[in-house]
Formats: sequence, structure tokens, C-alpha cells
Amino acid sequence: MQLSLLESSDPRQVAENRVRELRIQLEYHNKRYYQLDAPEISDAEYDALFRELASLEERYPDLVTSDSPSQRVGGAATGRFRTVVHRLPMLSLENAVNDEEIRAKLDARVKKELGLAESSAVSYMCEPKMDGLAVELIYEQGVLTVASTRGDGITGEDVTPNIRTMRGVPLRLAGEWVPPLLEVRGEVYLSLEAFQKINRDREENGEPPFANPRNAAAGSLRQLDPRITARRPLSLFCYAPGLVEGATFSSQHEFLSVASTWGLPVNPLARLVEDVDGAVAYYNEMQELRESLPYEIDGTVVKVDSFQLQRELGEKSRSPLWAIACKFPPRQAETELEDILLSVGRTGVITPVAKLKPVEISGVTVSRATLHNWDELTAKDIRVGDTVVVERAGDVIPAVVRVVVDRRTGSERMVPPPLVCPECGSAVVRIADEVALRCMGISCPPQIRESLRHFASRGAMDIEGLGEKVVEQLLALGLVHTVADLYSLTKDDFMQFDRMGDKLASNLLAALESSKACDLSRFVFALGIRHVGERTAKALAQAFGSLENLEAATFDELISVRDIGATVAQSIFTFFNTPDNRSVIGRLRELGVNPTAVAKTVGGRLSGKNFVFTGSLTRFSRDHARKLVEDQGGNVVGSVSRKTDYVVAGEDSGSKLVKARELGIAILGEDEFLNLLETPDERNM
Ligand code: IVH
Repeated sequence: MQLSLLESSDPRQVAENRVRELRIQLEYHNKRYYQLDAPEISDAEYDALFRELASLEERYPDLVTSDSPSQRVGGAATGRFRTVVHRLPMLSLENAVNDEEIRAKLDARVKKELGLAESSAVSYMCEPKMDGLAVELIYEQGVLTVASTRGDGITGEDVTPNIRTMRGVPLRLAGEWVPPLLEVRGEVYLSLEAFQKINRDREENGEPPFANPRNAAAGSLRQLDPRITARRPLSLFCYAPGLVEGATFSSQHEFLSVASTWGLPVNPLARLVEDVDGAVAYYNEMQELRESLPYEIDGTVVKVDSFQLQRELGEKSRSPLWAIACKFPPRQAETELEDILLSVGRTGVITPVAKLKPVEISGVTVSRATLHNWDELTAKDIRVGDTVVVERAGDVIPAVVRVVVDRRTGSERMVPPPLVCPECGSAVVRIADEVALRCMGISCPPQIRESLRHFASRGAMDIEGLGEKVVEQLLALGLVHTVADLYSLTKDDFMQFDRMGDKLASNLLAALESSKACDLSRFVFALGIRHVGERTAKALAQAFGSLENLEAATFDELISVRDIGATVAQSIFTFFNTPDNRSVIGRLRELGVNPTAVAKTVGGRLSGKNFVFTGSLTRFSRDHARKLVEDQGGNVVGSVSRKTDYVVAGEDSGSKLVKARELGIAILGEDEFLNLLETPDERNM
């Protein structure tokens, strides 16, 4: 008998081979799901692969590597959540794609099954079909106890801590009376605005953007670390009851209106219609309205309104006979990719952009689409001359979904990644762990343009009047090359601009002058250091107190600042130790820019008081709680001692709570803590 070279009888070797195989498969499916929006396997199949990997790694811990999908927080976390078995299965819906199908697949069938005449009228509840992910919330005695994803309809993932971070989800039902048990189903979604912001941030950080709001919502909800979910403004609309004890509803419209009195969010666009004509009209109306809604919908859902009739109709192979999803045509079109252009952003990221033969997609003419990055371009094998499918998926900029390979003629041209920046000719590098290519030139025009704009913007130096147009003219006339040059501008310089008056020029100079005495945190933010947003800039200003201290900070000092990890610390350290940056800061100083740290609140109501937080907080994040305390002059410390004044205990508080009791320290619940601050919690802000 001949043994295959790949097979081995050593169990560890077998495990190692399998682990390698599983990682490749999981990464591949991750990519298909999150980036390409074209999953090939079901969530359950993905879970099975994930669990197999996790259990092998548990058995052979030395096989765990930091890049294993099992170690990743984010999309790949599937399989690490506790599973929840839905008491009633979460069904899916059959689809209709036009008016005729709504009539045939729903109305005609309903009447046939119920033995009603074709001419009779059945009333329907019509709702927008939210494009997000389905969840189930369980309220026991009015309190949210478990929240889970739909999963395969039978079992889902326990995402309770994550759902709790969502501001629109009541943790306790409102109203005088609530049923002892209420399971409610709904759709978690992201507004278009939130989706676009998340993708902008991801691209800035060199992470691949989400393909559409649905993927972004799923990725945000299925985070092992609920603090990440908390930063993503997810929303919810409830649309169906699950198991309910102690209350009955006679219809879908009654259920929705009662649910809304309990404080559960219900889509205000839901509408009761008296017959199928109304349902068809609603479908057409929503298709028009779709373009102006602040969130994505991919169709409407039509449900027989009466729960009695719903029960009579029942279900067939995992979808009910009493409802149908009326899908809108996808916002896709085929067109020719004429060229691949390169666009350079503020941080030097070079993004490939598709120049398209103009094509109309649901009323909008599209001639450009993002290709995101070169990995994506290579993975999708996109070439100049290809016929491509373009989709508007909630983003301002449409995306190229795939190539229509059958249309290839052989004359298509592949475009290699650039070696030099198309704008300034400097070298292009690919930073480890990032998908993005970056231009490293310090005098690259688009980078200067964006850094000037950022420097002058409201959250940064807030230089009034120094907007896009002024920046363009400053660059066109060669008057500024770095942000420091702004402070040596004279009135005569400004007077060379088109349509510049004496008053406007004086105002600009005055705005520049007054920005010189700025707050340190704004100045640090204005410098545009990678990974340093307003929040980090504030933390840095508070920790170092002066620009000189910050410039001299070591990597170890930087990383010990709250919320600053290795990547951010490295980026700050590199920034201040780059000679060009030092010289720009030096010149800013010479020209009179003098940032100072705003003194920490002293004499606040909590001045000198020490707080310890323990257990999981449900009403606000730890960071927010810290801010509330610090804003009033108090301190937050990590461990309980005799110097501690208050311990704020969330759920499952452990040893710190015991110690606080032993030492007789005041223990506050979350509500008492808020009362002490006399400040509304995050939900009301
Ligand atoms: S009712 C048995 N109502 O569409 C009834 N579903 O294909 C189950 N969806 O998994 C669903 N908006 O994620 C219903 N207003 C709405 C909906 C909705 C979105 C999703 C839901 C479900 C899928 C069904």
C-alpha cells in the first residue's frame, strides 16, 4: 500500500495540515462575504469551519498564530458567540419581483388557500423591506434579556451585549403594562450616512471598505468586542412578534402599533392597505421613495394583516404562505470600463478609480466607480476594456461588482499597480498589513491640498474663510507648500486672487492671526497625523500638557496613554521624528503659532474624587463614563483602595465590588451614578 505524501499518521501533523487548510478557506470566505458581497457558503457552513478550526487550536495551542482567523476581532468572529436556539424558527420569505408576481404569488394563492372568491379583498400590511440583518430580542417582564441574530433561522448568535449598546433599543419596555414574555423580531441596519462614515474611516486606516450598508451592519453587530459595536450607530426597526405570553394581538397592524407604545422602534412608513391593488401601489411608491430615504431598502414586505388568517394559511418549507418579499430590481447596470485612473488622497493613499462609459442606474448617470484597492482589482481580475457590472449600493460612489467574462474579446488590458505617484512622481509603498498603496512624497499636491483643508477645518484650527476655493488659489499661485506658509501670507498675496476684496483679505488675515493662540488638542488634530482623530488628539493633549512634551515623547510613553495602541503610538512617534515634520512645526512656532493645553477641570463638583468602574456597564461605555467624571474634575482609577470614593458597579461585578464592600466604600448603580453627576446618560445626548 502506498501512503500519500500529504497524509500522515501523526495526529498533530494531521491537525496542522487541516488548520492550514481551514485558515485559507475561512479567509477566502471572509473575503467573499465582507468585501465581495458574494458569499459562496451559508453562515451555518462557515460556522462549522470556524468551530472546527477553533477546536483544533484549542487541542493544539501551539498551532495558534496571531493571524489565524480565530484571533481576529471583527467579521471573522462568527463561531465564538454563544448560540441561541430560537423558540420559534425565524422564517424567510418567498420573493416577488414585479406587480404580477405580487398578485399571483401572494394574493391569488392566499384566496385559493382560504377558499375566497377571486373578487374578494384581503387586507395587507405593507412595510419597507429593510436591507440589514434580522435579529430577535427577548423581553422578560419587560426587560431585555437576550438578543440574537437570525443565523440559519433555527439557531443564531447571542449578541446581547452588542444590541444593548444600540441607542434606539429599549433596555426596558415602556408603558404601564407589558407582557411577561415578548419576543420581537426586527432588522438591524445602518443609515447611509453612518455607512459612508465607517467606510471613509476604514479607507483612511488602510482597511478594506464594506461593500454595502448591510455588510457594514452585520460586521458591526457581530463584533466580539461590544465597544466596537457601540461606536457604530446601528438602528433597528421591529417588524414581527416571536413567541409572546400574556398578550394577544389580532393583526400585524395592531402588533406594530402596540409595539411602538412599548418604545420599540417601528418603521413609520408601514401602511395598512385594503386589497392587493393597495399593496402593488405601495410597492411602486416605495420604489420611487427609495432614492430619498436615509437608509437602504431592497423592496417591500406584504403580509396578510389578520393573525387569524395567517394561522389558517400557515407555512410551507420555511417561508409563510401569508407574506411575500417584493424585491426591487437591483441598482446595477453593465457598461464598459474605459480606463483605470489613479486618485491620491490626503494621506497619500492611491485609489484606483474606474472610468466608465456613462450608464444610467435608477435615474443617476454613472461614469466613475471605485475599485477600492489593488487587491480588489486583482481578485476581481478587472481589466481596461472589460464589460463590468456596476452597482450603486448605498454609497455615494458606485462600485464595480464583477467582470462579465463572457464578453471578453482578448484585447482587454491589465493595469499593474503604480510604482510612482501619478501626481508628484514620488515612490509608492505598500505598508505592511495594509491593502492601500501610498505616495510618500511630502510635496505631493493632492496631499498638500487636503492637509491644508484639514488644517483649517472647523474641528481643527477653525480658520474661517479658508475653504476649498482659497486653498485652490493658494496652491495655483504657488504661495503655500506647507501649512506653516499660511502664517507668512500677506494682504498683497491674497489680493492677487480672483474676486478678492480688501475686506475679505483682512478677514482672512485676522482669522489666521487669531488661530495662532489655539488649543493644543485642536493643533494636534490639525497636523493630520495618521490614526489621530479628535478624540486621540484630546487624550494626547491631556496626557502631555504641551507640544514640546508631545514632540519628545517616547514610544513607551505614547503607548501608555489611554486608548492608544501600538499602531497609533508608532504613527505619532514617526510623525514627530520625521525631520520635515519637525521643521514645519518649528516654522509654525517661529511664525507665532502657540498651542496651549486647556487646563484640566479643577474645582468641579467631583474635584479630587476617585472613581472605580467594575462589571459591564449597559447604559454607557467606560470611555464615556470616564469623560463624565473627568469633566467634573474627578479621577477614574483602575483598582479599589482606601483612597477610592465611589465604585460604580455594572452587571457581573466581581472582586472589586467585594473589596469595596469590605472597605465600606460607597457603591453606586448606573442610575445612581447618573444622579450623582446630574447629567443625562449617552442615550439622551
Ligand atoms: S417579515 C415570516 N418584515 O427580510 C416573516 N422581514 O426574506 C419574516 N426583512 O429575514 C420576516 N424588512 O431580515 C419582515 N418589514 C420586514 C422586513 C423583513 C426586512 C428581512 C428579514 C428577513 C428577510 C426575509
